[in-house]
Amino acid sequence: MTYGLIPEKASQCNSNNVSRFGMVFSLLLLFFAGSAYAQVPNAVAPKGDHDGKHVEQPIEFPHDIHARDNKINCMYCHTYARRGNVAGIPPTSKCMGCHAVIATEKPRIKQLTEYWQKGESPKWKKVHDLPDFVHFNHEKHLNRFIFNNEGMEVERADEVCAFCHGEIKEMTVARKVKPLNMGFCRQCHEDNNGPSDCWKCHK
Ligand code: HEC
Ligand code: HEC
Ligand code: HEC
Ligand code: HEC
Ligand code: HEC
Repeated sequence: MTYGLIPEKASQCNSNNVSRFGMVFSLLLLFFAGSAYAQVPNAVAPKGDHDGKHVEQPIEFPHDIHARDNKINCMYCHTYARRGNVAGIPPTSKCMGCHAVIATEKPRIKQLTEYWQKGESPKWKKVHDLPDFVHFNHEKHLNRFIFNNEGMEVERADEVCAFCHGEIKEMTVARKVKPLNMGFCRQCHEDNNGPSDCWKCHK
């Protein structure tokens, strides 16, 4: 995300020649930076935002530390996202695979270890929740936009998750930032050849 940086520096140059060179250089840079930050191929991203409330969780789980800083794939924890209807929250045993040895002295990890020792899981609260009369399935969407999508790498799965969940990897506690209402779903179906029949989404 260094878009602004180089052009700004270039415009500080006093000599015309230098700044002309700077401009061409910046344009080239923007071109290459643009392709480096290419969008998900074969997809029109859905539009619309939602200002969801902060959800109080039993332990404040930092998505940013895991997904952004340590580059753990979203689907490593949300394993069911690929196969089933429910993406699921990972069991504490999965956390302990790392936290039996990582950051064991931190207060939140001590709290987590207490749950583990009692054989319990923190009671994570739902952040996204569609009404029961709506059908939704992660698998179809992830197959279409990740696994069966030419030119798309699984390492970039988070960019597809972001269509419907926003930039979770920048968040501490997950928050709902996309509307996920009928208009949002239907518009994306129209833009990407998804189904438009009422009965596909409603029983
Ligand atoms: C693949 C390894 C891995 C897994 C699995 C994992 N974590 Fe972490 N977690 C880390 C690393 C690495 C850090 C950063 C540790 C540090 O800063 O010293 C971290 C940090 C944290 C922190 C912040 C600790 C602090 O106060 O700085 C919390 C809370 C946390 N993890 C909770 C969880 C929970 C809950 C799970 C299961 C849902 C989980 N982690 C699963 C690797 C993992
Ligand atoms: C180390 C395990 C771990 C990783 C990696 C991880 N998550 Fe999570 N995720 C959790 C836990 C634990 C929760 C429950 C706490 C919360 O909601 O903040 C959660 C909650 C969520 C929720 C809210 C679920 C609901 O109730 O609606 C979404 C959406 C989500 N994660 C998406 C992602 C995306 C997208 C990525 C990759 C950018 C990702 N997660 C990476 C562990 C993980
Ligand atoms: C096309 C939109 C869309 C995409 C793409 C998407 N999700 Fe979801 N996700 C949803 C909806 C809608 C819900 C709420 C489902 C419900 O309430 O029945 C949800 C719920 C969740 C939940 C809460 C638990 C559950 O399954 O209900 C998690 C965790 C989650 N998503 C993670 C992910 C991850 C990780 C990715 C990327 C690998 C992803 N999602 C991609 C729309 C999407
Ligand atoms: C990013 C764009 C996008 C968004 C957002 C999106 N969908 Fe889809 N959806 C698609 C596409 C494309 C398909 C067709 C996939 C295929 O057939 O390969 C599809 C397929 C489906 C199917 C058909 C599954 C089947 O059995 O054939 C259902 C049901 C569905 N979506 C529901 C929803 C709901 C409900 C929402 C909103 C919460 C939603 N979708 C949001 C793109 C999207
Ligand atoms: C792509 C998926 C999708 C399709 C196709 C779709 N709906 Fe919906 N519909 C939804 C979602 C998601 C909601 C829940 C909205 C919310 O929670 O705000 C909804 C809600 C509704 C509601 C409840 C009232 C409301 O507006 O919230 C009615 C009634 C409804 N839909 C009727 C229809 C009819 C009739 C059609 C066909 C013309 C249709 N839907 C097609 C996804 C869809």
